[in-house]
Formats: sequence, structure tokens, C-alpha cells
Amino acid sequence: MSDPYFQQLFAERIGGANYGKGTEIYKFEKIKRAKRKALAEHPERRLIDFGIGENDEMAPESVRRVMAQEIGKPENRGYADNGIQAFKDAAARFMKRTLGVDLDAETEVNHSIGSKPALAMLPACFINPGDVTLMTVPGYPVAGTHTKYYGGEVHRLPLRAENGFFPDLDGIPPDILRRAKLLVLNYPNSPTGVVATRDFYQRVIDFARKHRIVIVQDAAHILLTYEGSPLSFLSVPGAKDVGVEVHSLSKGFHMIGWRIGWVCGNARIVRAFADVKDNCDSGQFIAIQKAAAAALDNDDIPRQVKTKYERRLRKLVETLHRCGFECRMPGGTYFLYARAPRGVRGGPGFETAEAASQYLITEQSISTVPWDDAGPYLRFSVTYEAASEADEDALMAETESRLKGLGLMF
Ligand SMILES: Cc1ncc(COP(=O)(O)O)c(C=O)c1O
Repeated sequence: MSDPYFQQLFAERIGGANYGKGTEIYKFEKIKRAKRKALAEHPERRLIDFGIGENDEMAPESVRRVMAQEIGKPENRGYADNGIQAFKDAAARFMKRTLGVDLDAETEVNHSIGSKPALAMLPACFINPGDVTLMTVPGYPVAGTHTKYYGGEVHRLPLRAENGFFPDLDGIPPDILRRAKLLVLNYPNSPTGVVATRDFYQRVIDFARKHRIVIVQDAAHILLTYEGSPLSFLSVPGAKDVGVEVHSLSKGFHMIGWRIGWVCGNARIVRAFADVKDNCDSGQFIAIQKAAAAALDNDDIPRQVKTKYERRLRKLVETLHRCGFECRMPGGTYFLYARAPRGVRGGPGFETAEAASQYLITEQSISTVPWDDAGPYLRFSVTYEAASEADEDALMAETESRLKGLGLMF
């Protein structure tokens, strides 16, 4: 097929004239293909899917009821721009009640259509060509991608077991530090499952002040905190002077597809975000904002979500232990991050987590997400579908039997 006349016009940021011609297959596409192949070749074997990073339930009935009512109201029909005050107020109440953070709901909170677009837009507030965003890896790459779109650079801070899966802020080269404008953190951390400490956040604040860097803390998983109480960056003195925290109703309220979250913290940064956002979208549907406000006022919802995923994670940790994996109960998120097996007794060795992950799906229809950015690890998500606790137990028993049958070496 010949190229369209505009082939030469694609921007370099998405591949320039080569856009659409690459043959490289990305990780999540490889996983999808491997799942399809396993299902086709072994229709008799149930796919055990630890690969999905999405809640397995609908939003609670009470939230859907508010939504149904609000959809019918004419006053909710229009552009929402930078959001309705009722949502900001609910977010501020939630931040105070659940996380002990005081916010001015008018100036220190702004809604977003989920946290993903917020992370995509924040670099627009700060990054000029040549500027640097510091990003932890493995992690959620969206802010880094947009940093590069604006001509900036990403400096990767590996999260390694020997550092407790915290970034080594003291090891950043001086040239990078001079050009760094943003540090993007994510705790509870996806995929490692580690939760932050007050001490770490205090060091981050000192670091930000010393090097004049803005902090963006992605708290998408904060309500899935099992170790201690959920800890907001903004609850640490001084945090509001150096950055913002990005929140979401996706994970903690089973509202993944509803697309609603917020940016909060430093008023000047929140305003810059709102200005950029105002030039990108016209706000989330007001009915969704109102339903989300009702959800934020109902503490039972996140409590139930957390209880469910905590229970499932504990079962998975025990199961994987019995199969030889070295792993511990994560402090947060619905992910278990376990060192990948090195190979199989009398079978292949695995150079990478990706090779191990491919082997598990091919041989036993067990889907995982491999991470090789900072050592070979597999991410198991407990968002699999199981209607009852008995079904969860049956799934764990089946997982154990399949994994034990493989003779994995660690
Ligand atoms: C660490 C992290 N941040 C942000 C997001 C985006 O979530 P949402 O846009 O649904 O709020 C995700 C979703 O997977 C995530 O894992």
C-alpha cells in the first residue's frame, strides 16, 4: 500500500515519517495476543487472568442511582468547564476526613477527567524544550510521554528492592538536577505495591525546595492502602508549597470507566493545571461530577473496595509462597510484584520477566504483566473475576496446582 500524501507530515513525537510503519509490538499488545493464543489452543483450560489492571466490579448501586437521577436534569446538560463547586467541595471534605488534609475547595482543587489526563496535562504547565522530568520506573509513564512531546527529557529513577522501592534522590547527576523541573511520584506505588512514609515525603519536600523542583504525586491507588492509614503527600508540612497530588475515583470507588478525579494542593499550580485543562477539554459531564461527589461522601465504598482486594492479595501471597515465589503482602494497590522465576527445572531458563510471563501464559494459561525496568518482576493483579470467596479460593487452588506442575526455579 502506498503512503498517504501526509505520511511525511506526522510529527517527530509520534515517529515522524515512519509513523505506523514500526513492527515492534508493545508489551500490553503482546500480552493480549498471548491470551488470545492460549484461549485458542487450550479452550478446555480456564484462563487465569492476573494481567488486568482494572476493577472487576461496577460502581455501587447508590452511585449509579444518583447518576440516573442527574442524567435527567436539564441543568446538568452543558459544558462543565473547570468543574462544579459541589464536586470540589466533596473532594475537599474527603481530603480532610480521610487524609487529614485541609484544602480551599475553590482555589486548591480542580476536577479532571480521571487522573490520566491530569498527568498528561501537568507537564504543559512547566516543561519547555530541554527541561527534565524525573520519573520513577517501573511506573505509569503518561507524564513522561508528554514531557517528551514538549521537547523535554525524562530522567528515570529506578525503584529497586535494595532501596525499598524508593528512588535514590541523592544519586541524580548535577546536570540533570539543574534542568529538572518536575518529580513525578506515585505512592502507593504501581506496580511495586510500596507505600510512602512521612519521612520519605519530608525528604522529598526538602529535595524540592533545595533544587527548585515541583512535585506531582500520583495518588490513584491511595484508598487501597493496607499498611497503616492512607498517607497523602499533602498531609506532610510544607508539601503544599512544593506541589500537587492527583486523585482518582477509578480504583477506590470502582469507577474506572466514569473518568473522574482531581488535582489538589498548591493553588498556583492547580490554577496552571486548570488553565491548561480549559484549553484541552470542557469538563466532565456534570451528572458524573454529582454522582462522584455522592460517592466521595460515602466512606463505606472505599472501605469495601479495600477489604475485598486486601483479602484477595493475602490469599495470593500465600499461594505464590507455596509455589516458591518470594513475595510479601504489598502495602497498597491491587498488585503483587514478585521476582520472576529464573527458569524451569529441566526446561528453559528465563533471561527476562517477559520470557517468564510468556512461558506462564503459553504453558498454563496464567496471564501476568512482566516488568524488566529495574530487575525482572511479574505483576499479579487481584482484579480477576470471581463471584464469591469460594470462587476466589478455587481460583487460588487452581493457580497453585498449575504453577507447582511447572517446576519453576527462583
Ligand atoms: C499509577 C496510576 N496512575 C494513574 C492511573 C490512571 O487512572 P485514572 O485515569 O483512571 O484515574 C492509573 C491507572 O491504571 C495508575 O495505575
